[in-house]
This record gives sequence, structure tokens and C-alpha cells, in this order.
Amino acid sequence: MSGPTTGPVLQLRGITKTYRMGADNIVHALRGADLDVRPGEFVALMGPSGSGKSTMMNILGCLDVPDAGSYVLAGQNVGSLNDDRLAAIRNKHIGFVFQTFNLLARLNALENVELPLIYGGDRRARRDRAKQALEDVGLGARIRHRPNELSGGQQQRVAIARALLNDPALILADEPTGNLDSRSTAEILAIFQRLNDAGKTVVMVTHEPDVAEHCKRIVRMRDGVVSGDDIVASPRRADAELQRAGTAASVDLHGAAVPAG
Ligand SMILES: Nc1ncnc2c1ncn2[C@@H]1O[C@H](COP(=O)(O)OP(=O)(O)OP(=O)(O)O)[C@@H](O)[C@H]1O
Ligand SMILES: [Mg+2]
Repeated sequence: MSGPTTGPVLQLRGITKTYRMGADNIVHALRGADLDVRPGEFVALMGPSGSGKSTMMNILGCLDVPDAGSYVLAGQNVGSLNDDRLAAIRNKHIGFVFQTFNLLARLNALENVELPLIYGGDRRARRDRAKQALEDVGLGARIRHRPNELSGGQQQRVAIARALLNDPALILADEPTGNLDSRSTAEILAIFQRLNDAGKTVVMVTHEPDVAEHCKRIVRMRDGVVSGDDIVASPRRADAELQRAGTAASVDLHGAAVPAG
């Protein structure tokens, strides 16, 4: 992302979001949330079900707009942008990863990764980038497989390759390991940690303390506001945990916990 590297990559102030379901069913999903994230951070977003994490992520990812408050992303006030500008800023700066992978069933891995590039660039360069992205997540040998021919962890790696295709500075992941076993979870965390080591900013929602302990900072939400914010003293390393597990099917993600704060 351009601009000074010390300033926040994203800054939320007093963000509110209310959903109206009929006349007398009003849900205050966000009630004045504040958050700063700086370049190079790896943030875990935690909190009870319904506390507003996904609503927050959708706003961070410019997939939704707040009712009130300000959101500055890479120096731009997102609230003043129309839908086209919002889509442009999203495509340029943000890679989104979802719990349910969101792959198209009839397309193979390569075609799924190519998808966001279909409207730009020449075909050959696009294919080469998609192949490289799949190799980078360890799926070079699976590019012709369709989603139903891949494990959950492999499908999530395809989704990550797709999210990385435009080389976004910010990766937003909403419970990316929520549907995965311990080995696949560790593999996904190792990829995010490698991307973060290379300078990418990552914000990841998780319900699992073991997963959050791989991040550098844990932000907690409650009732639509940020209720806690702690530095992780020494984040756990997924690559080391995978190495210790060797070829075992499960990875001990429940080893010695690193205290937060
Ligand atoms: N599109 C929507 N329409 C109506 N209500 C919504 C919508 N999206 C979210 N909500 C409500 O807003 C509140 C916050 O939802 P949100 O999905 O942000 O929670 P969450 O923290 O992500 O929960 P979980 O951990 O279960 O994923 C909830 O009460 C939810 O029911
Ligand atoms: Mg959610």
C-alpha cells in the first residue's frame, strides 16, 4: 500500500452498523467501534458469536458500508467513495478469505484463482500468475483439481492463492480455519505467517485461542465495540509446529500457550 509506512493502514472511528429486519426487529451489530491497524501487523479478531466481527470485517473489506463513523483505508476516506471506487480500492488493496472458501464448484483450482483477473491483463500473463500463486501455497501439483477433488485445507489454500493474485497489502480472513482439522489449520497459519513476514498486513477472525496465539496482536469485540486489545509477547510459529508433527495426521496446536499481554 502506498503512503508512509508508519501510519495506520486502516483506521476506524465510531463505526456503527444497524440491521433492520422488519419494523420492530433492529440489530445494532456495531455500536461505535474504533480500530487502528498498522502496516505489517498480524491481528486476531476474537469475541463471542454475534459480537460484530464479521460485520466489522465486511466493512474493513469494503464489502459493506457503515451507517456512521469514519473509515480511512490507505489514506483514503472510504465513506466518501461510490460503489465503483469502493470496488476499485478493494481490488487493489485487499484480499479476502472466507470460512467456506467460496470456490466455484465447476471450475478447477487454476480457473478459480484466475477468476479475479478475468477483466484485466493478457490471458497468458494471467495464467502464469495464477499458477505461481498456487505453487506458492504448495498446490502446484493440484491445479487441475476441482474443489470436490481437494481437501478442505487444500480448498482454503486455493482461496488464499486467489486472494493474493492482485498482490494486496492487506489480507482479511473471516474464520479461515473454522472448518479445518489441526494439520490444515497449521498449514494455513504457516502461509499467513510467511505472508506477514514478507510485509503483508493480516487481520483474521478466529474463535480459537490456539489459533490467535499465532498472531502478533489480539483484538477482542463485545456487543459491537472493541473491548480488548493485547500484544502477543511471542507468537507461536506454525511452521515449527508442523515440523515437530512430522508426517503425523494431527498437529499439536494445544501445546504450551503463549501468554498474551
Ligand atoms: N445481513 C444481516 N442482516 C441482519 N442482521 C445481521 C446481518 N448480519 C449480521 N447481523 C446481526 O448482527 C449481529 C452481528 O453479527 P456478526 O455476523 O457480525 O457477528 P460475529 O461476531 O461475526 O458472529 P459469529 O462469531 O457467529 O460469526 C448479529 O446479531 C447478527 O445476527
Ligand atoms: Mg462471523
